[in-house]
Amino acid sequence: MVLLSQLLFAFFFALGNCLDSSSSPTSLSEKDSTNPLPIDTIFKLPSPLPTWPPGGGFASGRLDLGGLEVCQISSFTKIWATHEGGPDNLGATFFEPSQVPEGFFMLGSYAQPNNKALFGWVLAGKDTTGDPSNGTLKQPIDYTLVWSSDGYIWLPTPPDGYKAVGCVVTNSSDKPSLDKVRCVRSDLTDLSEPDGWIWGTDKGISVYGLRPSTRGVQALGVPTGTFMASNSGAVAAALPCLKNVKANLSSMPNPSQIQALLQSYSPLIYLHPDEEYLPSSVSWFFRNGALLYKKGDESNPVSIDPTGSNLPMDGSNDGAYWLDLPADQAAREQVKKGNLTDAGVYLHVKSMLGATFTDIAVWVFYPFNGAAKARFELINVSLGKIGEHVGDWEHVTLRVNNFNGQLTSVYFSQHSAGVWVSASELEFQGGNKPVTYSALHSHAFSPKAGLVLEGNGGGIGIRRDTAKGETVVDAGARFLEVAGEYLGSVVVEPPWLNYTREWGPKIDYNIVDETNNVEKALPFFLKKKFRKFIGGLPSEVLGEEGPTGPKMKDNWSGDERT
Ligand SMILES: *[C@@H]1O[C@H](CO)[C@@H](O)[C@H](O)[C@H]1NC(C)=O
Ligand SMILES: *[C@@H]1O[C@H](CO)[C@@H](O)[C@H](O)[C@H]1NC(C)=O
Ligand SMILES: *[C@@H]1O[C@H](CO)[C@@H](O)[C@H](O)[C@H]1NC(C)=O
Ligand SMILES: *[C@@H]1O[C@H](CO)[C@@H](O)[C@H](O)[C@H]1NC(C)=O
Ligand SMILES: *[C@@H]1O[C@H](CO)[C@@H](O)[C@H](O)[C@H]1NC(C)=O
Ligand SMILES: *[C@@H]1O[C@H](CO)[C@@H](O)[C@H](O)[C@H]1NC(C)=O
Ligand SMILES: *[C@@H]1O[C@H](CO)[C@@H](O)[C@H](O)[C@H]1NC(C)=O
Repeated sequence: MVLLSQLLFAFFFALGNCLDSSSSPTSLSEKDSTNPLPIDTIFKLPSPLPTWPPGGGFASGRLDLGGLEVCQISSFTKIWATHEGGPDNLGATFFEPSQVPEGFFMLGSYAQPNNKALFGWVLAGKDTTGDPSNGTLKQPIDYTLVWSSDGYIWLPTPPDGYKAVGCVVTNSSDKPSLDKVRCVRSDLTDLSEPDGWIWGTDKGISVYGLRPSTRGVQALGVPTGTFMASNSGAVAAALPCLKNVKANLSSMPNPSQIQALLQSYSPLIYLHPDEEYLPSSVSWFFRNGALLYKKGDESNPVSIDPTGSNLPMDGSNDGAYWLDLPADQAAREQVKKGNLTDAGVYLHVKSMLGATFTDIAVWVFYPFNGAAKARFELINVSLGKIGEHVGDWEHVTLRVNNFNGQLTSVYFSQHSAGVWVSASELEFQGGNKPVTYSALHSHAFSPKAGLVLEGNGGGIGIRRDTAKGETVVDAGARFLEVAGEYLGSVVVEPPWLNYTREWGPKIDYNIVDETNNVEKALPFFLKKKFRKFIGGLPSEVLGEEGPTGPKMKDNWSGDERT
């Protein structure tokens, strides 16, 4: 948990992005005929989706946003493809939704980079107001051409009081018919922001996905699956998303549907084969001697009852209290190691993106986070105690589509932020269960096994080692639902969830001593580099506070932090 910062993370992200930029200057036809593009494959989860238990509007294929019914279309007609520009310089493909149900209209075209298997959707809408003059959908009054080459991107011009939420793509220079697409009444739209680069060239065009600007359990913005296109010197089209104006939560899964989702998608969490610090349940940690300390009364720590009901639950993270391992040395060493048999995961089920998605955050508790290890060139460097701390909370989040119950992506927490990985790029096991890896000592989550160097590049970084061994937590075997605000009193939050202070003490070692010790042991030619590397680590890494619990993290009620 401890050793990463946004800075380091940004590096990892950049690394990930440039891993396979194996673009060679092949001609279009060569690319076409010799190498099928990733997008030529349609991604499907390894196993068919089960029949979900009935009840409410979950997985019913439709959602009423308030006079505007929407459905999700993932069958497409290919309109136009380009084979250059965009991610990995492989180009992008533009599609039109097909098989739009009777009474529904297209709101915009779909676009995807060619470097990934086809996996996407757009919403189509149906006006259910029966109001001919002020309904929720209207035809555009015209189009503006945003981009043309051998494909054409058109921005609908909405009538007064309406907004365009998507572009129309054609493969001929004729303006699309006004009946092609619908604009949405302004009160059913919300602000959005670019999300993911789809395509762009040095000729000035850039195409991005869209997502609501405000996201969280209370936020009502609904992504449409459409894209925005901007062309330098021409129209910059930042298109709005939709809005679930009635805050209709009928699409959210009920308790038996949540059980079924877990049966399908509960992640497998592979711990590193060399990991000494395994997870445990929170109550095991408490029952085995964890102590609550109070500032000013450090010599009288108290033991904690198994549910945490004697923890302070008022106030904020003000440093007035903290938890620690048992005082007795032998007990400390034992508790540090956790207890895999007793470990389970804690679930937080939340409504996301205007109730069109369900996020299931899967939290894992580790009594102890081990020391970090660095790699300089090809040499492993122990960092002494740097990185160690008591109490480590990590999570992955499953994002499930409420139209059909399909898993669409998984978030992996990595220190203070994390990454979303599309289902089309996950490893699965036992049907549709995503495979996740917990890194040696830091327990940061990864979608892949192997070594990642966290740092600023130059062959120096903190090792993040993950591997598939025998040690695995099957989240589906032992889980406890600890929070689900939209379910009301169905989910009873355990008392420890409301403990707002730190789950471990401030570090008890001296960073300067620790750094000097490490440096002393290094060969002379690495000393200077090491100084520079340590100097570049953000202060929160070196002056580590104990970690806080799930409710205090970014982001309990919001979207995940990336
Ligand atoms: C919520 O949506 C469902 C169908 O998706 C509909 O039956 C219900 O009337 C809606 N509720 C409100 C308050 O709009
Ligand atoms: C051009 O667009 C039409 C739909 O408007 C589609 O049916 C056709 O296949 C497209 N042509 C090509 C070459 O993709
Ligand atoms: C149309 O309906 C919306 C939402 O109810 C309302 O805000 C708007 O004033 C109406 N416009 C007209 C012209 O009646
Ligand atoms: C680990 O947990 C299991 C199951 O709760 C229990 O039987 C076992 O005694 C525990 N081991 C330790 C060392 O606490
Ligand atoms: C470096 O450390 C990793 C684990 O952290 C280990 O697998 C690897 O063998 C070590 N390499 C060397 C050269 O010691
Ligand atoms: C924890 O906090 C939540 C929200 O603030 C509250 O609804 C709940 O009653 C609290 N639980 C306990 C056990 O104090
Ligand atoms: C967490 O979510 C809340 C609510 O959506 C939002 O206001 C806040 O900016 C988010 N914080 C971060 C760091 O993303």
